[in-house]
Amino acid sequence: MNAPFKAAGLRDPFNAFVCDDETLDLIRVAAGDMGWPIEKCNKGGLRNAVQSLSVSASPNILFVDMSESGDPINDINALAEVCEPGTVVIAAGQVNDVRLYRDLLSSGIQDYLLKPLSLDQVRESLTTAQAILSAPKHADMHDDKPHHMMAVVGVRGGVGASMVSTSLAWAMSEQAERQTALLDLDVHFGTGALTLDLEPGRGLIDAIDNPSRIDGLFIERAMVRASDKLSLLSAEAPIHQPVMTDGSAFFQLEEELRNAFEMTIVDIPRQVLIPFPHLVSEAGTILLVSDVTLASARDTIRLLSWFKQNVPGARIVLVANKFQNAVGELSRKEFESSIERQVDITIPFDPKLVSQAAKLGKSYAEICKGTKASQVWTNLMRLILDGADSEVEEAPAAAKGKSGSSLLGKLGGLGGMMTKKGAK
Ligand SMILES: Nc1ncnc2c1ncn2[C@@H]1O[C@H](COP(=O)(O)OP(=O)(O)OP(=O)(O)O)[C@@H](O)[C@H]1O
Ligand SMILES: [Mg+2]
Repeated sequence: MNAPFKAAGLRDPFNAFVCDDETLDLIRVAAGDMGWPIEKCNKGGLRNAVQSLSVSASPNILFVDMSESGDPINDINALAEVCEPGTVVIAAGQVNDVRLYRDLLSSGIQDYLLKPLSLDQVRESLTTAQAILSAPKHADMHDDKPHHMMAVVGVRGGVGASMVSTSLAWAMSEQAERQTALLDLDVHFGTGALTLDLEPGRGLIDAIDNPSRIDGLFIERAMVRASDKLSLLSAEAPIHQPVMTDGSAFFQLEEELRNAFEMTIVDIPRQVLIPFPHLVSEAGTILLVSDVTLASARDTIRLLSWFKQNVPGARIVLVANKFQNAVGELSRKEFESSIERQVDITIPFDPKLVSQAAKLGKSYAEICKGTKASQVWTNLMRLILDGADSEVEEAPAAAKGKSGSSLLGKLGGLGGMMTKKGAK
C-alpha cells in the first residue's frame, strides 16, 4: 500500500475490520489459531479501516470486509492512501465478479474471499499472507547478496564467541543492512538473548522437540525480533533436563533460515559441533574465536585441523579476542607462530565498553559505535562480506608458517606434537 510510514514501533501482526457478528466470530477464531491477539478484530468494515489506519500504524496483515462498500475499487484506493507499504491486505465481500476480483488484485489486495466465509478458507488465506509477509525480505534483497551462513566457534570456553556472534549480528543487520538471523545453539547456557535484552521464547525448544514442524511459517513465528533486520532463535533450556536431539532440528533450522534471511550467524558450542559436524557443512565462513593463550593456541591448532578435514571448502577467519598488548600470556607473534598462521582480526580486551554493553542490554559492537573500537567491527564485517560476496574460499590472511619457528616447538617440542596430533 502507498502511505508513508507513520510510526517507528513494531506493527501489530493482524487487524480486521468486519461488517457483521458472524464474520467477527469467525475471524477471531482464525486469528486466535494463528497466535494473534483477537482484540484487534473490530466491527466496522472498510470505512472504519480507512479511519483507523489514517491515525495509527498499519498491521502486518489486514483483513477488510467490503460488504458495505458501494464502490469497492474507489474504497480500496482510499485504503491504499492510508495503509503503509508492506501490509498484506485480504478483502472479503459478497460480489462474485471476476472483473472486480482482478481489479482488486491489481490495486494491491492479496486475496479476495467471497462471503459467507468458511473457517478453512480464512485460515488458508491468513497462512498464505503470513508466508508472503516474509517476501518483502526477499524483495529487499539485492540480487548480488546471496544467503551467507557463518558459524562462530570459540576454541575454548569463555573466549568471547557469543560476544562476537551478537556483535556481528548487530553489525550485519544495522550497518551492512542484511536481514540477519542469529541462531544460538547453546541451548542450556546461551547468552544471545540475554545480551540483547530479549526473552528467548520457546521456539528453539519446540524445534528440538518437533523437528518435523520446522518450516517457513514456524520460523516466522518462533524467531524473536531484536529489530526490523535482526531476529534471534535461542533458548534457556531447564538445566535438569538433557536436550535430546540427533541434530536434525538444528540442521532443519539452518535450512529454513537460509530461505528466510540474507545472513545466518550460528553461535555453535564445540560440544555441539563435534557430534554434528554436518551443521557447519554449508557454512561459507567459519569464525574461529580465540584468546591469546597457550591453551587456546593448542585448541586453535586442533580445530583448524578439524575444520580442514570436515569442511574443506570453508573459509576460516581467525579472531583473537581479549587481546592485551604486553601483559597477555602470549604475544600475538608468539601465538601466530605456534598456530602456524596469522590472526585475521584482533579484538582488544575492553572491560569498560563490554560492561557498559551488558548494562544497557546491547551488543558490544553497538556500544563501540562512534568510538575507535568500532573499526574492528567494520574490518571484520568487511572481511566476511568480501569473502562471502566474491566466494573466496581460502582465508586470505592464511600464512604458511615455518614449523621450525613454532613457539611451542621451542618450548620442548610441544608445538610439533600438537600440530601432528591436530592433523590426525
Ligand atoms: N574483548 C573483550 N573484552 C572484555 N571482556 C570480554 C571481551 N570479549 C568477551 N568478554 C567477556 O568475556 C565473557 C565471556 O564471553 P562470551 O560469553 O562471549 O564467551 P563464549 O566464548 O561465548 O563463552 P561460552 O564458552 O560460555 O559460550 C563475557 O563476560 C564477556 O562479556
Ligand atoms: Mg557462548
